[in-house]
Amino acid sequence: MSDQKTLAIDVGGTGLKMLVLDATGEPVTERTRVETPRPAEPEPVVSALLTMDDAHGDYDRISCGFPGVVVDGVVQTAPNLDGHWPGFDLGAALRERFGKPARVANDADVQGYGAIEGKGVELVLTLGTGMGSALFVDGRLVPNLELGHHPFKDGKTYEEWIGKAGREEYGKKRWNENVGEAIARLAHLFNYRHLYIGGGNAKKLKLELPDNVSVVANRAGLLGGIALWRD
Ligand code: BGC
Repeated sequence: MSDQKTLAIDVGGTGLKMLVLDATGEPVTERTRVETPRPAEPEPVVSALLTMDDAHGDYDRISCGFPGVVVDGVVQTAPNLDGHWPGFDLGAALRERFGKPARVANDADVQGYGAIEGKGVELVLTLGTGMGSALFVDGRLVPNLELGHHPFKDGKTYEEWIGKAGREEYGKKRWNENVGEAIARLAHLFNYRHLYIGGGNAKKLKLELPDNVSVVANRAGLLGGIALWRD
């Protein structure tokens, strides 16, 4: 096995996170986090990442999770960031600014790679600023599943109910109930073998979860980075 090191980046609506993974996907530097610059436009975000990079020593390549639809490194949507992201080639910008090969994927897709077992239908939801979703079949990703923006109830989307804004608007108790309701709905829709719940707010869940649902540590968002280099 090669001994390539990967700088794993997680761009979030609230925080930017980073650490270096060894060839087996184990972290070799401490995770660092800074607030996402506001306005969260492409240039300030890439510059903030470049500054964070100083704390992480040397590495060979970059994996980046981004909070929107990403195709071939090019951002298509960025609902929780600011400015002109759609059409921005983040992969190319990272390659140019960091001087290393870089791959970019949706943040929930990356998180999912860090959480799944690779058997049957596995669904991943991330509860953070937005609501991310990722679907895997026998370990193969169906990229860019965007459940967050689908109608959930009362004319509002899943993300509006159970993303950060929903948690603030409806309070902790109702937010928990809403997450429980969303899980029940998605269980019927996907008939998944297992559902993993990650993201910064997952640890705030106070719900009795069915046996095939588990909460994963938010750092899975970075650990999955290694999978982007599995060809
Ligand atoms: C975006 C998703 C993203 C999720 C979590 C949603 O608003 O549409 O692409 O995965 O937020 O960041």
